[in-house]
Amino acid sequence: MSATRLAAADVHPARAVVDLAAIRHNVRTLARTAPTAEVMAVVKSDAYGHGLLPVATAALDAGAGSLGVAQLAEALDLRAGLDAAGRHPRILTWLFAPGAPLEQALLADLELSASAPWAVEELAAAARSTGRTARVHLKIDTGMSRGGARPEDFGELLDAAARAEAAGAVDVVGIWSHLACADEPDSSVTGEQLEVFGAALEQAAHAGIRPQVRHIAQSAGTLFHPAAHFDLVRPGIAVYGLSPNAQVASSVELDLRPAMRLEARLTVVKRAPAGTGVSYGHTARTGADTTLAVVPLGYADGMPRIASNAGPVSIAGRRLQVTGRICMDQFVVDLGARDTGVHEGDVAVIFSDGRDGEPLADDWAAVTGSINYEIVSRLGARVPRVYVDSEEQP
Ligand SMILES: Cc1ncc(COP(=O)(O)O)c(C=O)c1O
Repeated sequence: MSATRLAAADVHPARAVVDLAAIRHNVRTLARTAPTAEVMAVVKSDAYGHGLLPVATAALDAGAGSLGVAQLAEALDLRAGLDAAGRHPRILTWLFAPGAPLEQALLADLELSASAPWAVEELAAAARSTGRTARVHLKIDTGMSRGGARPEDFGELLDAAARAEAAGAVDVVGIWSHLACADEPDSSVTGEQLEVFGAALEQAAHAGIRPQVRHIAQSAGTLFHPAAHFDLVRPGIAVYGLSPNAQVASSVELDLRPAMRLEARLTVVKRAPAGTGVSYGHTARTGADTTLAVVPLGYADGMPRIASNAGPVSIAGRRLQVTGRICMDQFVVDLGARDTGVHEGDVAVIFSDGRDGEPLADDWAAVTGSINYEIVSRLGARVPRVYVDSEEQP
């Protein structure tokens, strides 16, 4: 952690406390769930807001065999950070446009995805100019209709890869895909996607391409669909202790521990008479003489403004909610009584692992019509991340 970050953590009235023991616990749970597969921990978008390097390191400590990120820039940062720490796992990255600095990617020993012949050709060119073989995962679109070659175009992608392999520029180390409806265990789409994936693997074998790893399962695929495990699983949200679908199974039911606790120290606590309008637009008005508390987190910190008058908060062990509109930097909570025993500096918990009835990221997702993924990954850069280890021996 940089000196600037430490200073921010000291002075900022809010913080996201990330328990690295929870990350390790979750990786172990995932490894147990998919015992025949390598766990590739997905740490894109600053590890879903939890912090790239601390999470990556904890995941590796718990036995994750590799790491996945979406963007090339994230992969380069991850490689540099881990190299500095003396660690060198497999890193897969999958989002880049034509003309990306692939030489840099190969020099950083990254593995890259290719969904179309142009990507194989650019990777082969980068291999020729760097003298490094490009390690490639060919992506088949089995039904997500996002990345990957459609089944009718997969043959062309295989041909391009086979030519580049024969020229010694490319090594196809993986064939992969992504499930669209794995978080709905009863959906027939997953079975259909697995059939298309199986056919693509056979087609690759006929073309003489034998990857080391075949992979299709994100968290929901890992937790709900054993047939999707193959050689490697790519969980993201479950690494952070959150369920891919809390309606199907909660974190507790899945033996996952939410790793992030978002909390803030109250900056103002004051009495207000009945009928007082609160925050912009006076969308809330106190019903009785009461006490108002100001929480120093706003939409610039990632608090969804749509959670105005709805987001759950725990203060002094009481479950309360946002009163009035969420502003850019702060929001108000009506404590509901004149004598609350709550003071400036006391801690409001926005979400945590749910212990003692505190809200979960799942609860914020429910009141915003969103998903827990968005709640944690949108947390603003100015909120300091502070790392603890609840299993560390004193
Ligand atoms: C290609 C890919 N694999 C794996 C994941 C991890 O997904 P999840 O967080 O649902 O486990 C993602 C995230 O969206 C992804 O885009």
